[in-house]
Amino acid sequence: AASSLPLSRSPRGAPGRRCLSRHVMDILLQYVVKSFDRSTKVIDFHYPNELLQEYNWELADQPQTLEEILLNCRTTLKYAIKTGHPRYFNQLSTGLDMVGLAADWLTSTANTNMFTYEIAPVFVLLEYVTLRKMREMIGWPGGCGDGIFSPGGAISNMYAMLIARFKMFPEVKEKGMAAIPRLVAFTSEHSHFSVKKGAAALGIGTDSVILIRCDERGKIIPSDLERRIIEAKQKGFVPFLVSATAGTTVYGAFDPLLAIADICKKYKIWMHVDAAWGGGLLMSRKHKWKLNGVERANSVTWNPHKMMGVPLQCSALLVREEVCLHPFAPLVISGISPPPPPQCAGCLLYNCVIANVLAMKQEVIKVVGSFPLCAPFFFKLPSNFLDRKVINFLLNFLMMSPIGEFA
Ligand SMILES: Cc1ncc(COP(=O)(O)O)c(C=O)c1O
Repeated sequence: AASSLPLSRSPRGAPGRRCLSRHVMDILLQYVVKSFDRSTKVIDFHYPNELLQEYNWELADQPQTLEEILLNCRTTLKYAIKTGHPRYFNQLSTGLDMVGLAADWLTSTANTNMFTYEIAPVFVLLEYVTLRKMREMIGWPGGCGDGIFSPGGAISNMYAMLIARFKMFPEVKEKGMAAIPRLVAFTSEHSHFSVKKGAAALGIGTDSVILIRCDERGKIIPSDLERRIIEAKQKGFVPFLVSATAGTTVYGAFDPLLAIADICKKYKIWMHVDAAWGGGLLMSRKHKWKLNGVERANSVTWNPHKMMGVPLQCSALLVREEVCLHPFAPLVISGISPPPPPQCAGCLLYNCVIANVLAMKQEVIKVVGSFPLCAPFFFKLPSNFLDRKVINFLLNFLMMSPIGEFA
């Protein structure tokens, strides 16, 4: 057993690293085994003051020994709730999926970010294919559109609001809210509080989120939605977003998406579906009808950590329109680096292009501006790089994007 291995003083050399890793793995595996054991407690619950008194919580100025660090690992898990326990039930996320856990260990071990393709080749491609698959399941033809993983459903909902506002008033990015009319969003009285929170964070204001009445089962009443939209317009406000919920947090109710889609179309309003919880039903042949109409949404929040057992936290914002996450994106491929575009929030597609071009040419080229929020779609390619084969590939790959100039 790893615990019988002596801990070397430093984890830096190869033997030290191996030894520490084995001890840590041993602790983690013991915890996993215990988690699934029905005879153990789901949680060894203590009140905050008990835990505060029992342990020294000071962050010491001196480094801790490896023994102390391992002890802290054990103590942390001792008081953790065992989400894999057969008696652990939670309405919003549940279970400990072993394959998911393995993937989590793998990502932490790889210890990288996803700025560019070069820094995370497999992860970038995985993200690309996963988001495309999710869009396919939503029902967007060929998985078209765009998407981004985010820290959680609340942030995904806020991104949706950000894009909807930007789509209607692109000048808001430079000029701010003072330059645009008073916006209003609509959502059900049973929707997640993050819709209001997003409005607060984006300077739209919580008063600008109009709560629509629900029926006795917690579903939005479409006639009330339409009435409130008309009312808001009569007051001079500009309706820019309807956030429907597919699986409300408390009742698990599914809003009537088809009726909402008709209303959004009639009044030219961005339709967002918060399927943070209910999105998982798209995987079920039997239950996916509950989301009928989701394919008509402009954007969808979907949290695989909720109903799909993916380890926490995993949320995606999917957008139907390809250019939505990089709305200014004229693709310019040239020997000269172009000026940075004003906005972008996704770079996967472009990283993929670069990956494929690189594979084709077996060369190393410089990618200009690969940061997700900067200019991922501008590449600096040597001018002798663009032969017919590469250009044809790019045209095929990027059919949907307006192509700029070639050097
Ligand atoms: C319907 C709905 N939307 C959004 C969220 C927020 O998701 P997260 O906790 O990942 O931010 C939740 C969380 O419970 C939810 O139930």
